[in-house]
Amino acid sequence: MKTLTVALPGRSYEILIQRGLLAQAGAHCRKALPRASRLFVVTDSNVGPLYLERVRAGLEGAGFQVTAHTVPAGEGSKCAGQLSELWEAMMAAGLTRTDAVVALGGGVVGDLAGFAAATVLRGVDFVQMPTTLLSQVDSSVGGKVAIDLHHGKNLAGAFWQPKLVLMDPDTLDTLDDQTFADGMAEVVKYGCIKDAAFFDFLAARLSRGELMAEIEHILYTCCDIKRGVVERDERDTGERMLLNFGHTLGHAYELAGHYETWSHGQAVAAGMCAAAKLGVRLGVTPAEVPPRLEGVLSALGLPTAISCTAEDYAAAVGLDKKGAGDSISVILLDKLGHAVPHKMPKAELLEELT
Ligand code: GLY
Repeated sequence: MKTLTVALPGRSYEILIQRGLLAQAGAHCRKALPRASRLFVVTDSNVGPLYLERVRAGLEGAGFQVTAHTVPAGEGSKCAGQLSELWEAMMAAGLTRTDAVVALGGGVVGDLAGFAAATVLRGVDFVQMPTTLLSQVDSSVGGKVAIDLHHGKNLAGAFWQPKLVLMDPDTLDTLDDQTFADGMAEVVKYGCIKDAAFFDFLAARLSRGELMAEIEHILYTCCDIKRGVVERDERDTGERMLLNFGHTLGHAYELAGHYETWSHGQAVAAGMCAAAKLGVRLGVTPAEVPPRLEGVLSALGLPTAISCTAEDYAAAVGLDKKGAGDSISVILLDKLGHAVPHKMPKAELLEELT
């Protein structure tokens, strides 16, 4: 088993990575949650039928009383209505302040269940059991939990660190190729921003089979990079913003497709390529970076460019909002494996992009 510790004052936790780990969830949760007697497991209509009974049996075997709650699969569940239903269901189940919430699923379940845990009874413990590549390498680590509002994604949330993250790479076997590729966009991002050797490692094995043969190493490397960033900047005021490489422009593509045409991973892939080319134009990024990045992402089945309007770019950089500030820190690469914030006037950024 590969183990990482996210060391934060008074709220450190372990990330455990191992094939078949879901079957051992009971023993690991018992160790991480010594006071809990009841666990409220949140899952979704795709993941529940695959893994819920296995997880429930393990948790009950470790002496927990288990209540399960299934939300419809999809981003639409990250909403105030589902959050409110979760709070009520938690109270109906008799959840107390010493009990805990378990998020079994991808990023939507982790964000929703984590925010419910952060707020119910003024905050109870929670465990992340991420089942998609995207949630394993990104959203399950670092304590950002949130729901979407009509005004945009993740607009109501909290920093609420889990007590434990259990990652079972076997859960990736049931992902369709598109969902696997979405996660790979974030995996490649870690190589771009922090680890050129990891980028080269990925570039040498771009089929799903080759990547799955090394999946524990890949998950460990991504989570180790994120661990370090979160330890140094938990509240996202400095270094953590580097994790947004490709995301600002990616947001414009998500907007352009009304969050339907392009998945988050696809938008981030094209956003990273656009940011790499922007960096070259601004004299920050070496010219060889965009073609290398595009080569890797297209081999993974991800788009390297998405067209969008000036209005979508303006909305993504906040130029459409009054009083949102005149400049923006866009994340660029000054070399492959090293990201830097680059502050520039929003109007200038918009001119560069359109
Ligand atoms: N997903 C970016 C972060 O956790 O900061």
